[in-house]
Amino acid sequence: MAYTDLRDWINALHTAGELKRITQQVDPVLEMAEIADRAAKLGKGTAKAGGPALLFENVKGYPGARVLMNQFGSERRMKLALETNSLDDIADRIRTLIRPETPTSFMDKLKMLPKLAEVGSFFPKVISAKEAPCKQVIRRGADVNLLDLPILKTWPQDGGRFITLPCVVTRDPNSGKRNVGMYRMQVYDGQTTGMHWQRQKVAAEHMRERLRATTPDLAGNVDLMAITSGGTATAASLDTLNTTTLTKIRGDRMEVAVAIGTDPATTFSAIVPAPPDVEEYLIAGFLRQKPVELVKAETVDLEVPAHAEYILEGYVQLGELRSEGPFGDHTGFYTMQDDYPVFHVTCITHRKDPVYAATIVGKPPMEDAWMGKAVERIFLPLMQLTLPEIVDVNLPPEGVFHNLMIVSIKKSYAGHARKVMNGIWAMGQAMFTKCIIVVDEDCDVQDLAEVTLRTTNNIDPERDIQFTLGPIDSLDHASRLPNYGSKMGIDATRKWPAEGFNRPWPPMLTMDAEVKSRVDALWKKLGIE
Ligand SMILES: Cc1cc2nc3c(=O)[nH]c(=O)nc-3n(C[C@H](O)[C@H](O)[C@H](O)COP(=O)(O)O)c2cc1C
Repeated sequence: MAYTDLRDWINALHTAGELKRITQQVDPVLEMAEIADRAAKLGKGTAKAGGPALLFENVKGYPGARVLMNQFGSERRMKLALETNSLDDIADRIRTLIRPETPTSFMDKLKMLPKLAEVGSFFPKVISAKEAPCKQVIRRGADVNLLDLPILKTWPQDGGRFITLPCVVTRDPNSGKRNVGMYRMQVYDGQTTGMHWQRQKVAAEHMRERLRATTPDLAGNVDLMAITSGGTATAASLDTLNTTTLTKIRGDRMEVAVAIGTDPATTFSAIVPAPPDVEEYLIAGFLRQKPVELVKAETVDLEVPAHAEYILEGYVQLGELRSEGPFGDHTGFYTMQDDYPVFHVTCITHRKDPVYAATIVGKPPMEDAWMGKAVERIFLPLMQLTLPEIVDVNLPPEGVFHNLMIVSIKKSYAGHARKVMNGIWAMGQAMFTKCIIVVDEDCDVQDLAEVTLRTTNNIDPERDIQFTLGPIDSLDHASRLPNYGSKMGIDATRKWPAEGFNRPWPPMLTMDAEVKSRVDALWKKLGIE
């Protein structure tokens, strides 16, 4: 049965022995982060990696507040969150959805009906404000104060406190479709925060679309993105635009709502790199196999998760940028200051006794490593839809999602590995992948020792490494320019004569099966183990 909300999920964590309540007083400034970091790293590298979820019940400076951390912080909990015994089962459900067998008989067609009905049941449902727990308390105008929330500072050199697990809801001005993305928010004061949607993310595109509509004359001569989402332009360089244009841009506002503390499938759906046209609310409905219940926001034209603990409502003004960061990031380094849009909070609704949800990112493995692993498993069928030769994929947590992807393929023709690299760089957020290693199908990509052995043995570096240029993750601190730089693909497959390789390729070592079974029979008697 789907979890109704965060507290239902907390109860399930408790029942499963996965929750540790912390009753000692702990400071949301750095202390909680340090505790969560240590918990996340418990059992590192073992099958039991990832300590318990943490419910802080005595938060320094916030009497009565509760904060949930590390809710997704192990493979066990990630599966519990998505109510599955195996993340591959979710991938299989996606496979049946996207590749249904063509029905040949009438009976087969009838058998498909429940599947279609199942899909229909994933669509979100809007309920009335009266039924929506997220509206138990409504604060507007002068009553809005973000500083009342137990928001964490996670690393010593952070620019301040950051909301780290927000589900940010925006609407595509053209299609009307809603997007939910997880973009961190630096708290500037009681009513404003940063809005760290990186330039290639869906909400940033929603903003650009508004800008294109407001100021069509800008399209040809200004880097629209620079004005809307940081990067190369700065707040100061904006002022070089002529006053009429600037006034026109700044006259437009984009409505934004943010849910904090939702059921786990909804929170998880916010990080899923879904195609822009697929609403995350639908993905969450698919994952929990029950519609997400939404409610109309109080002051903006957006629907928000009705069972959330907190909803922040407000707007981002086009053409307004402010310095954001530094922030201790999931790369293991600080992301330095950069200009990003500003979120003005005009209304906060919340439960009577809200539970605040947070995470800390940092040197892997952290909570987000498990979320990333779930994305890797669930997205495999979707990658295979475009690149059917892909057998398996591994995004090792130390590669922080975008730095390293290892992929095995059924190689069928000369240059096939390079075709796959280019395909991956052309696929949604996989465009950020800095290094791709392609191996043959008989290499287990989850076995990093095997991958290292194959890769280093199989390559002639000058011949097998391919460089290309393109968009780079905003968190990359090494690229020559922010957001733009080089990527590397390593073709570690066996080389073929058709690829100009005319030496004999040696077989890999394996023992004869017959010898193995003779030794199996002897092994215990030998007393070696
Ligand atoms: C804990 C966590 C924090 C994240 N913070 C950011 C962020 O600040 N900015 C950003 O652009 N992406 C961030 N991401 C990644 C996005 O959530 C992810 O790319 C997602 O697919 C974006 O949604 P969209 O495709 O709807 O834009 C974060 C992911 C996680 C797990």
